[in-house]
Amino acid sequence: MKDSVSESGSVRLRPIRASDAGFMFECERDAEARRNFMTTPKSVAAVRNGIRKAIRERGKARPGSEELAIEWRGRTVGRVWITGMAARHAEHKACIGIMIHRDFRGRGIGTRAIRLLTAYAFGKYKLKRIYTYTRASNRGSRRILEKAGYKLEGILRKDALKDGKYLNNCLYARVR
Ligand SMILES: CC(C)(COP(=O)(O)OP(=O)(O)OC[C@H]1O[C@@H](n2cnc3c(N)ncnc32)[C@H](O)[C@@H]1OP(=O)(O)O)[C@@H](O)C(=O)NCCC(=O)NCCS
Repeated sequence: MKDSVSESGSVRLRPIRASDAGFMFECERDAEARRNFMTTPKSVAAVRNGIRKAIRERGKARPGSEELAIEWRGRTVGRVWITGMAARHAEHKACIGIMIHRDFRGRGIGTRAIRLLTAYAFGKYKLKRIYTYTRASNRGSRRILEKAGYKLEGILRKDALKDGKYLNNCLYARVR
């Protein structure tokens, strides 16, 4: 399809649009999504503002971040993002993230989306390192990263403090 940045079989990544805001807001509202992030957006308008920023960033000659919608069988099911490409003295690396709507989890979409994003980011930005942090308790996230070739570099003990509890995070990376 015309605006695909990357696709394989039934999964494709395309630039996010302001009209995705309502659905992306819904993606963040269930218990699992809330558990795995520090903050949850308060309104569709807040998500739309974030998307507008992402669209402006994408228009730059050297974007520092990108947000892409994930489509599965022609339906929008979530999003991925990549950040940090324009950080001075760290242009060789970037950080990724993923969010899939609860109705579409557990179907292999996350695994394929991370593989697509990784190939796209290494190719477009000439990166040497792509990394991410995930809760040690997030078995699904850890599994999809491992299946996409990311290696566990360490467990950061008591790395986050949320609702009065200290949480361990894992650092995963792929280098080339
Ligand atoms: C994490 C997330 C992106 C995974 O995407 P997905 O499409 O559901 O993942 P897939 O279906 O491709 O694969 C999930 C894998 O994890 C495994 N898995 C899922 N939940 C698990 C659990 N609780 N314990 C053990 N394994 C689990 C599945 O068995 C599968 O592995 P397999 O293919 O070897 O069987 C998705 O669940 C999500 O968006 N969660 C909420 C937001 C979030 O946590 N984002 C990541 C923050 S770092």
